[in-house]
Amino acid sequence: MRTKLIAGNWKMNGSLADNELLCKAIQAGLAGPAASQVTAIAVCAPSIYLNQLQGLLAGSSITLGSQDISAHDKGAFTGEIAASMLKEFGVRYAIVGHSERRQYHFETDAVVALKAKAALATGITPIVCVGESLAERESGKTEEVVKRQLAAVIHENGHCISEIVVAYEPVWAIGTGKTATPEMAQAVHAVLRAQLHAASPVAAERVQILYGGSMNAANAASLLAQPDIDGGLIGGAALKAADFLSIIAAAR
Ligand code: PGA
Repeated sequence: MRTKLIAGNWKMNGSLADNELLCKAIQAGLAGPAASQVTAIAVCAPSIYLNQLQGLLAGSSITLGSQDISAHDKGAFTGEIAASMLKEFGVRYAIVGHSERRQYHFETDAVVALKAKAALATGITPIVCVGESLAERESGKTEEVVKRQLAAVIHENGHCISEIVVAYEPVWAIGTGKTATPEMAQAVHAVLRAQLHAASPVAAERVQILYGGSMNAANAASLLAQPDIDGGLIGGAALKAADFLSIIAAAR
């Protein structure tokens, strides 16, 4: 039985003051009957705040994630942050291949696969994002696109593929308020699960496949009720404690 994972992706939002308020509000909301006992919770913050968050979240059940990771160990890669550095700040998860990184920073499937590898080598769980654009969906290419994206990661990381998390994030649903219906999302999740199964039946059993794309307090329960949806990668709704807490409650 896979546990659920609810991960907030704060993107380029926050401030020292706002982060503290948000973390305290989430922690206060979790203080009752602990949702965290059955649901893993993470917040993926801008790297510059990881130090602050490591302190704020110490002793809580909320784990820390980064939004990116370098494919390289160290050296002349200006602006990059290595897996070993993230590890020093208590990072447990690293988002890799978010569609915004693919789109604005031209990350290819091969680079995303190497980033997943760098994370795994350091004991950080990569949250591998896959998802089709609106044009790709409308031209019937959804399955082809997500399978190509996941195949690159499986090819590079086959031996430890059961250690990853996958996030299906249809690009047209991110930040738009348009959510995939539970049935649409489940159909893609089932495709990804079958692809993992072909690589490793153990991985298919273990790997959490999250849904992301305008998941919110109102639609979370129906999405999370689908058999192959094991949690959520939450953008906008993760910035409001009440919404994030409602999603966590829906995952129970
Ligand atoms: P959203 O973002 O929830 O704001 O749509 C999700 C994501 O990009 O991970």
